[in-house]
Amino acid sequence: MLDGKKSLFSGMQATGTLTLGNYLGALKNWVELEDEYECFYCVVDMHSITVRQDPAELRKRARALLTLYIAAGLNAEKNCIYYQSHVSAHAELAWILNCFTYMGELNRMTQFKDKAVKHADNINAGLYSYPVLMAADILLFQSDVVPVGSDQKQHLEITRDIAERFNSVYGDVFTVPEPYIGKQGARVMSLQEPDKKMSKSDENTNASIYLMDDPDMIIRKFKRAVTDSDNEVRYSEDKPGIKNLIDIYGAVTGKNTAEIEKEFASCGYGDFKLAVGESVAGMLKPIQARFAELSKDKDYIDGIIKTNAEKANYYATKTLRKAQKKVGFPERIR
Ligand code: TRP
Repeated sequence: MLDGKKSLFSGMQATGTLTLGNYLGALKNWVELEDEYECFYCVVDMHSITVRQDPAELRKRARALLTLYIAAGLNAEKNCIYYQSHVSAHAELAWILNCFTYMGELNRMTQFKDKAVKHADNINAGLYSYPVLMAADILLFQSDVVPVGSDQKQHLEITRDIAERFNSVYGDVFTVPEPYIGKQGARVMSLQEPDKKMSKSDENTNASIYLMDDPDMIIRKFKRAVTDSDNEVRYSEDKPGIKNLIDIYGAVTGKNTAEIEKEFASCGYGDFKLAVGESVAGMLKPIQARFAELSKDKDYIDGIIKTNAEKANYYATKTLRKAQKKVGFPERIR
């Protein structure tokens, strides 16, 4: 809770470019939450350096992500869209929380184990305590709810454990966050391996639609989407490719499965794929135009970055000071 309003926190890394899955599964639905919650959407650049990054590239991508949040419809005056690295309380609270997190807990984190295999030459302490920084992100804003994908559930669990542990020693300092269970967005699968989630880090670029893909590219990717061979547009668990395309078309057009099956009853996959491609291209067009426009408006984006960092800093510092006092740090002399 912040100032009597429930608060919501989510973060995204600026590595890779956002996909249709990120949009239909998350961003698109976030737009409606701004009145109900005090929302914080953080570009988590401090998490990004747990694996090696090209500095210029990271800076560029972080700005693009922040701009894309706005282009996708998040009102930057109502939602606090900001860079993690601009609010030093993240690092300071993470340190305190590190001292309330057990190595045994961190050893169980499946994402750490996966990343340690992938980056075997650079298993650094930051990668290991990544979930603690994430806990700090969430707890700084007394977040009631956190929309996360299934891959981040374990990190939210450890956040709750850390918060409860701290609270049990010092009293109610942190709100214990819940996963956000509201209107769920579509779960968009890979166009090449429809049993797998669409991912911005997929090496096969044909598997994902990126939000910045042009219409020709989008249509081409949908035409190449892997489907079964019976050529019937029907929603079924054993037709994962077609099921995915129906889900996407439904999420874009608002039509339900029965309507879609009827609409394409006398068509083959070719026509259906084209229709899905065109609907997605049409949906992304205004977002892309707005992104191009915003990217040219340096002063506007700079203004958002500055104001929102100040807002985030205000709330974050409040929580940080409480935690610092509880653990016994001396009071600041002003
Ligand atoms: N670890 C998250 C991811 O990679 C990003 C993240 C960082 C996050 N801090 C967060 C998500 C806090 C939700 C809340 O997807």
